[in-house]
Amino acid sequence: MTRPPVERREFDYGGLRLVLYDGVYVPSDDTMLLAETLRVPPGARVLDMCTGSGLLGLLAARRGARRVVLADDDPLALRCASENAERNGLKNAEVVRSDLFQKVQGRFDLILFNPPYLPQENSEDLYLYDEKFEKWRNIGIHAWDGGPDGRRLIDRFLREYPPHLAPGGRIHMIGSSLSDYEKTRRILKAQGMEVKILGRQRFFFEEIVAMGARRGRGR
Ligand SMILES: C[S@@+](CC[C@H](N)C(=O)[O-])C[C@H]1O[C@@H](n2cnc3c(N)ncnc32)[C@H](O)[C@@H]1O
Repeated sequence: MTRPPVERREFDYGGLRLVLYDGVYVPSDDTMLLAETLRVPPGARVLDMCTGSGLLGLLAARRGARRVVLADDDPLALRCASENAERNGLKNAEVVRSDLFQKVQGRFDLILFNPPYLPQENSEDLYLYDEKFEKWRNIGIHAWDGGPDGRRLIDRFLREYPPHLAPGGRIHMIGSSLSDYEKTRRILKAQGMEVKILGRQRFFFEEIVAMGARRGRGR
């Protein structure tokens, strides 16, 4: 089967030369807030969950990570992330198609997570027939649709990450006032994580935060 052509544009960030396919999440304020507050322990095993273009995970790969897994459930995002790994010569990065942790194996020292987090009612109505791809596609909402309260993926992530985080490991994730990041902080603390707000950005309708959570060494 021949693959449909994709529109593409190129951009540079943090020493990476990246391509973005039309239909893949455009790196935005949330991506940049995580990128600016990202610290990668030397030799870390990193998981970039919901990787999109791969920007965050590839930044980690470039900054001393030993192994990086770029996970997304959108095959187009993974094609884009894979090309980005290749064009930057980052052989320590691999892609995996996975609905959250379903196909992810192993434990990680750092998990990056910029999920779809915006509340959206009746998202099933927002599908259009896409002539170019010859299939029903959502109109770009898959990357930001967090369900009615915005927490559909966040709450699943908080239930599913524990076996994948190494002792002393960290989560570096985005939270939004629109999907109750204080609730995320409470859940992480109740799980025994030490939680810090590493950066924040205010808009007139929303506040986003970069949240860092660390698991104790003995856990
Ligand atoms: C807000 S974008 C973030 C992209 C990138 N990490 C960034 O910061 O620019 C969210 C990404 O989550 C992916 N996604 C949505 N639902 C998912 C799921 N159930 N499992 C894995 N990835 C998912 C989307 O395809 C999209 O690429």
